[in-house]
Amino acid sequence: MTTPLLTIDPEKCSKDGLCAMACPMALLSFADTTKPPVPVPNARELCIRCGHCVAVCPKGAIDHEAMKASDCLPIQKKLLLSAEHAEHFLRSRRSMRNYKDAPVEREKLERLITIASHAQTGHNEQPVKWLVIYEKEKVHQLAEQVIAWMKHLLKTQKEFAKSLHMDMIVAAWLMGFDVVFRNAPHVVLAYSHKASGTAPTASIIAMTYLELAAPTLGLGTCWAGYFTYASQTFQPLMEALNLPKNHVAQQGVMVGIPKFGYQRMPVRKSPDITFA
Ligand SMILES: Cc1cc2nc3c(=O)[nH]c(=O)nc-3n(C[C@H](O)[C@H](O)[C@H](O)COP(=O)(O)O)c2cc1C
Repeated sequence: MTTPLLTIDPEKCSKDGLCAMACPMALLSFADTTKPPVPVPNARELCIRCGHCVAVCPKGAIDHEAMKASDCLPIQKKLLLSAEHAEHFLRSRRSMRNYKDAPVEREKLERLITIASHAQTGHNEQPVKWLVIYEKEKVHQLAEQVIAWMKHLLKTQKEFAKSLHMDMIVAAWLMGFDVVFRNAPHVVLAYSHKASGTAPTASIIAMTYLELAAPTLGLGTCWAGYFTYASQTFQPLMEALNLPKNHVAQQGVMVGIPKFGYQRMPVRKSPDITFA
């Protein structure tokens, strides 16, 4: 016998209909308001397993086959950010390009990626997978591949390559400076199955989560745009990454322990806003 998609405890259910309202696919019928909502006949096929029905119930009356109410951490009011805290936190985030010559514990990187894996995804598909290039030697080898890609572009698409300062980055590399990964000890790459249409956006959002969470764990990050670009187009680098068959690189960031922090929030352009 298959487990039911949803189990609603009639004793706990207060018949407020919140689960029916919250379900993005309208899979709960609440026609009889004297009884707990009932899943529609094709609920199992249509359910995207987002857990909103479980998360919205104030009584903890619903268990989903994918997650029990007791599996879902309660939201603690005392931990919610004020508008002032949120603005301060978001505006004080910085790209870090100077790292201590020390590794980050694997558990810490796993914790960081776990936080990032809770970012929103189209249709709750959760298509993002993670490759941690942990060993510094391997990070250096990948940087070498990115430099090889830049050298190739400087020959074949000189103006384009120069517009992205690749001539300067290659020159710096030859003098012993790593402008690709900034001597970061680790690189985290989000990748996905090539057939997933939601993965490019999901990877950017998840990486943004990762970047925002990093300083709370004492870590610094910087998006590795050159590496990302090369990892999607340069065959030798793709081979070095050795992603599973039919998978593609999405976004990469460098990660490490920052050498220093910042004292002020730099000014940005005023937003160009139109109300229509
Ligand atoms: C998609 C993306 C790719 C980036 N790639 C690089 C990179 O390869 N190297 C680097 O030093 N910074 C890179 N950055 C960092 C930007 O230069 C940085 O976000 C910008 O200068 C603003 O500074 P802030 O992040 O401290 O606000 C990248 C940022 C983004 C969003």
